[in-house]
Amino acid sequence: MQKIGIVGSGLMGSGIAQVTAQSGVEVLLADQDSDSLDRALAQIGKRLARLGEQGKLNEDIDVIQERIQASSDLDRMAEADLVIEAVSEKESLKRSLFEQLDALCPPSTVLASNTSSISITNIASATKRPDRVVGIHFFNPVPLMPLVEIIRGAATSDETSAAVTRFAEHLGKTVIHAKDSPGFVVNRILIPFLIEAIFALESGVASREDIDKGVTLGLGHPMGPLTLADFVGLDTLLSICEVYQREFGDPKYRPPVLLRRYVAAGWLGRKSGKGFYEYPNGNA
Ligand SMILES: NC(=O)c1ccc[n+]([C@@H]2O[C@H](COP(=O)([O-])OP(=O)(O)OC[C@H]3O[C@@H](n4cnc5c(N)ncnc54)[C@H](O)[C@@H]3O)[C@@H](O)[C@H]2O)c1
Repeated sequence: MQKIGIVGSGLMGSGIAQVTAQSGVEVLLADQDSDSLDRALAQIGKRLARLGEQGKLNEDIDVIQERIQASSDLDRMAEADLVIEAVSEKESLKRSLFEQLDALCPPSTVLASNTSSISITNIASATKRPDRVVGIHFFNPVPLMPLVEIIRGAATSDETSAAVTRFAEHLGKTVIHAKDSPGFVVNRILIPFLIEAIFALESGVASREDIDKGVTLGLGHPMGPLTLADFVGLDTLLSICEVYQREFGDPKYRPPVLLRRYVAAGWLGRKSGKGFYEYPNGNA
């Protein structure tokens, strides 16, 4: 893989762009929102500067940053060997993007989705190359989290799955393989846990601080579930709950009303400056 396209420059897209550039591979980063692209480049710059100060980079920051070309023009994805989609967690949005990418990119290009919960088979069916569509699910924050899940849709070829596995390993990640089932492995387990913490808050079991303290000190987790929900993004969490409800048809996945209200209010977690907690200094 010489050149990777990434569509969506939010939390995940910016992290994937950073680790790809650090691995020596060229990146084309696209987003429909030019402010999001500017924020992504600024955050990548800050994170690289921090790594540089800690002596953790073996190249100049400028060399790494120059590998990332940001653009709001999707057409440039035609130059990439692999395109990773990291736009908002909405099936209709992802399907229409994959349809566009399928028309733009040469037949050999692999199209991958970083979706947290949406079926890879459903996304692939918007293209004429379902054998070259695959799930590559990174974890947040991408530069720090060592895991990548690779998900095969019904038609994904062995070659496609092997190619993205090699790419993830080239980034220094450890790969696990999961079936095309909502939430795959990690989010299948994590999301009900986060939802339960929000139900506990909603029903007044304890304060936000005590729910988080209970989990960090009582279970040994590095952060509490409400803090983690703010990291994930409350809109993303709500969208995942809605996919689970639709796909599993099990009421245990219903989203808490409190979560719906927060998203309606624009309180999306760290990325909007407020979620279960307040972040006056933004997401940096
Ligand atoms: N947040 C997490 O912890 C996490 C972890 C793993 C996977 N994911 C998945 O990664 C994907 C992205 O999540 P995120 O947290 O980075 O979201 P985000 O809200 O931070 O960023 C989404 C970006 O997509 C852009 N976008 C929306 N529609 C677009 C379009 N049509 N063309 C180009 N860009 C478009 C938006 O402008 C925004 O910059 C989702 O599928 C999510 O489920 C998220």
